[in-house]
Amino acid sequence: MARITSRNPADLSDVVCEVEVVDATGFAAACRRARDAQPGWAGLPAPLRGRVIAQVGRLVEANKETLAALVTREIGKPYSEALGEVQEIVDTCDFFLGEGRRLYGQTVPSEMPDKQLFTFRTPVGVAAVITAANFPAAVPAWYLVPALLCGNGIVWKPSDSAPAVAEALAQLFWHGGVPREVLQLVHADGPTAFDGLSAALDERLVDKIGFTGSTAVGRRIGELAGRHLQSACLELGGKNPLVVTADADLDLAVEGALFSGFGSAGQRCTSMGTAWVHASRYDEFVQRLAAAVSSAVVGDPTQDVLYGPLINETYLANFDKWLDMVQPHHSVHGSTGTGRITGANPREGFLGDPDIGLYAHPTVVAGIRREDALYAQETFGPIVGVGQWADFDEAVGLANGHGYGLSAAIYTQDPATAFRFREQCSAGMVSINNSTSGAEAHLPFGGNGLSGNGSRQSGIWVLEQFTRWQSMNWDYAGSLQKAQMDNLGLLRTLEADPDFRL
Ligand code: UN1
Repeated sequence: MARITSRNPADLSDVVCEVEVVDATGFAAACRRARDAQPGWAGLPAPLRGRVIAQVGRLVEANKETLAALVTREIGKPYSEALGEVQEIVDTCDFFLGEGRRLYGQTVPSEMPDKQLFTFRTPVGVAAVITAANFPAAVPAWYLVPALLCGNGIVWKPSDSAPAVAEALAQLFWHGGVPREVLQLVHADGPTAFDGLSAALDERLVDKIGFTGSTAVGRRIGELAGRHLQSACLELGGKNPLVVTADADLDLAVEGALFSGFGSAGQRCTSMGTAWVHASRYDEFVQRLAAAVSSAVVGDPTQDVLYGPLINETYLANFDKWLDMVQPHHSVHGSTGTGRITGANPREGFLGDPDIGLYAHPTVVAGIRREDALYAQETFGPIVGVGQWADFDEAVGLANGHGYGLSAAIYTQDPATAFRFREQCSAGMVSINNSTSGAEAHLPFGGNGLSGNGSRQSGIWVLEQFTRWQSMNWDYAGSLQKAQMDNLGLLRTLEADPDFRL
C-alpha cells in the first residue's frame, strides 16, 4: 500500500509520521462502513451523543499541550497559535455538548381541528469531510463535532500534509467514546479522494460533503455534489480586505494588520489580503506597518515568533508565484530580503536555523491597484498588499470587487461608518476594529461568492448542514380532513365585511 510521509517544516530531517493511503475503492469502502454504522449511532438519544461530545472535549483539553505541540511540529504553526487552535476544538465541544439536550423541533398549529403538526431534525446520514492543512485540528472539529452530535456517520479525509495531527485528533474522538466505525479516518491524496467520493456518491453512500480548501477544488466538489442533488458545505479561500478610515486608531490598525496578514504565516483562509487605507493616512500606515513587520521575529515556531515556516514545499513554491506578481509600480517592505529565508538570503533577527526549514520573508507590497494581479489573487503566505482610497464608496468597491467574500475588517471610530460598511460589504464575517482572522467558535463561519456557497459552520447555524427537517402531521379527528379544502366551512362563519368603514 502507498504511504505518505510528513515532515516538520521547521526541520526537514524530522519525519513526523508515515501513514498508509487508500485508493478510490478504499475510500468508498470506508463510506460503506460508515453507512452501516450510522443508524446505530443515530439511535443513541441525542443527549447521550452530547455526553460523548463532552467526553471528547474534556480529553482534548487534557491533551491540549501535546496536540498543540504536534500541530506546531507538523505544520509549523507557532505554539501559541496552535494552543489557540486546540482551544477552538474545546470551545466547539463545549457549545455542542448542550445541543444534545436541545436539537429542538417545533410544534406547529394545524389549520384543522384535532390535528397537530411537528418538525424534527433528522441526521443527513453519512458526511464525507475533506479538510486542509492550515487548521489541521480545529477546522475538522467544526465538521466532526456537530455532524456526530446530529447522529451522522463520518468519513474524514484530512490533508495529506497533516496526517499525524489527524491521527491524534481521531484518537481523541475514539477514546472519548465515538465508535470507530462511525468516524472513519482515511488518508489519500486529493485526486484519489475525489474519485473515491465520486464512486461513493454513485453508490449513494454519502449524503453530505464538507470541504475546506481552495476555491478551484471547491468548484469541482460543488459540481460533483450538484450532480447528485446535494449541496456541499464549502469553506473556501479569501482575499480579505482590512479597511482603514481617516479617523482610525492607526496603532490598533497596524497591530491588526500585522496579525491578520502574518499570523499562521498568512496561511489562514481569513488572513488579510490587502489593507485599504484612506489617502490621508496611507503613507503613515505603510511606514508603520513596514516598521512593525521589519522588527517582528520570524523563525522557530516553538519559540515566541510572529510566524514560523510555511506548511510544506508546495506552499513555499506557491509563495514564489505570488512574488512574481509584484510590479514596478509597487514598493516592497518588511524584510531584509524576499522569497525563501536562508543563510545566504537572511532575515534580520531570525530565530533558529533557516536552512533546515521552509521559511519565507514577510513581504508588504504597497501601491496595490485594482487592475493588479495581486488585487484579485488569493495569496496563501506571508505577503500582504496595501492600497489607498479617497471616498467610502471606493473603499467598499475595492473590498468587494474581487468576488471573494469571507472576512473583512474596518478600522474606524465612527459607528455610522462601521454599520454602513457591515451593510455594504459582501463578506460573511465582518470585524470592526479587529483582525480579519480570529473568528470565535460559536458564530456562523463562512463566506459568499468565491469564498463559498453560503453554507455556514459553527454555532447553531451549522445544524442546517448536518440535519434535515422532517415534518409530521398527526390527525386524531377520526375522519379524513383535507388540508386547504375542509377548513373553508369554518372560515365562512368568520367572514369579513370588506365594505365596512368607520
Ligand atoms: C481557516 O483558516 O480555515 O478565524 C479557519 C480564524 C480561525 C479559523 C480559520 N478561527 O482565523
